[in-house]
Amino acid sequence: ESSTEVDVSAIQPGQAIKAVFRKQPLFVRRLTPAEIEAANKIDVGSLRDPQTLEERTKEGHGDVLVTMGVCTHLGCVPLGAAEGEVKGEFGGYFCPCHGSHYDTAARILKGPAPKNLEVPEYEFTSDTVIKVG
Ligand code: FES
Repeated sequence: ESSTEVDVSAIQPGQAIKAVFRKQPLFVRRLTPAEIEAANKIDVGSLRDPQTLEERTKEGHGDVLVTMGVCTHLGCVPLGAAEGEVKGEFGGYFCPCHGSHYDTAARILKGPAPKNLEVPEYEFTSDTVIKVG
């Protein structure tokens, strides 16, 4: 019913865009090779909410990270998806409300948020378009 389609072809490596899914912010980010490497270097067992980057992306599209733009602490919109916004200590997203730092895979590394930014249900309907929900 209320699904959202996003064309990801114009998102350059290192860029993210904001969209809206079910009235909430949705972040779609294309990772650079360095951002992918940074995510893969982290010991998954040390994470508060253990998930690999691979588990958070789709096969064949490992550079496209789709998450809700809703902090899992108390629901603020994290920074880092728009040009010039701070990305926090780990280069992903930063929630300024109480200082939660997410890595380039949008996993919580520091601060009060209990969970990674949520990856919603979505699929690639072509090489360049995702359908969320
Ligand atoms: Fe994001 Fe509290 S709502 S850190």
